[in-house]
Amino acid sequence: GWRTSHLYQYQGFWCQPAEIQSIVAFQKHFQSYENDIILATMPKSGTTWLKALAFTVVNRDRFPLSNKHPLLTSNPHDLVPFFEYKLYANNQIPDLTKYNAGGPRVFGTHIPFPSLANTAKKSNCRVVYLCRNPLDTFISSWHFIGSMSPFTLEEAFDMCCKGVIGFGPFWDHMLGYWKESKENPENLLFLTYECLKEDTVFHLKRLAKFLGFPFSMEEERSGVVEKIVELCSFQNLKEMEVNKKGKSIKNFENKMLFRKGEVGDWVNYLSPKMAEKMSTIMKEKLCGSGLKFKLLP
Ligand code: PPS
Repeated sequence: GWRTSHLYQYQGFWCQPAEIQSIVAFQKHFQSYENDIILATMPKSGTTWLKALAFTVVNRDRFPLSNKHPLLTSNPHDLVPFFEYKLYANNQIPDLTKYNAGGPRVFGTHIPFPSLANTAKKSNCRVVYLCRNPLDTFISSWHFIGSMSPFTLEEAFDMCCKGVIGFGPFWDHMLGYWKESKENPENLLFLTYECLKEDTVFHLKRLAKFLGFPFSMEEERSGVVEKIVELCSFQNLKEMEVNKKGKSIKNFENKMLFRKGEVGDWVNYLSPKMAEKMSTIMKEKLCGSGLKFKLLP
């Protein structure tokens, strides 16, 4: 069975043995195209949402908004596969040369920036990084892993504060992508779940422009942006039949991908003291980087 206790450190981040195997295969075999798009996140930071938005934006010529839109029949993780859980999983080396002919290839990953395949780092492909308040991210993964966790909430939180969480530490993950967004802003867009939640329309326009698929005046006037926001909204995705059944990530039920979709839900699970502890650590770790993350209200 899948257990969270079996984490190993690989190239400075924590992950499971099966993941290491697929990450190594990805690093070795992936060949990047200039127009590839890579969506990078820590687990439970809004990956599913970002995948839905980006897929819809870049394919909107081919797949206009209609009752035949692919999101109505496929989970976002099947439209935008993970390198480590799907494409390079189980010792596969996929042929991606014909993948998504007719549009840019869009991939997802939780791998930290320094450990991406060299070809992805060196080509002109676009990387979008979405991060989220570590307290909410921790609580989201706590629910996702649920009864499979061999730890109590307090134990898991303590480990997380020491950096031990899948693909963590949080701060290293964020800083790796943050640094790249400062050095290569045309190749890396850095977003947060909280900002995206606060003004989805505004950030979706930024995203579209960054990806090379800006909305025309005509589209903006006719409400296409708002329609995409609506299509990809938490409520809408959660209620789609396709997302109530099946499994797209490992052995996890798709319906587990849509829990609450809110900012600040940690307050219902973590004590002020726990939150303070993480806040102090984050401040210390991000100090001097220019990246500021407000954890506490
Ligand atoms: S995964 O397994 O890493 O791909 O999970 P991920 O999608 O990153 O994170 C799941 C959390 O994102 C919430 N979610 C959304 N929020 C806003 N809008 C949309 N469309 C959306 N879809 C999923 C989901 O509810 C999880 O957060 P929590 O706080 O647990 O509700």
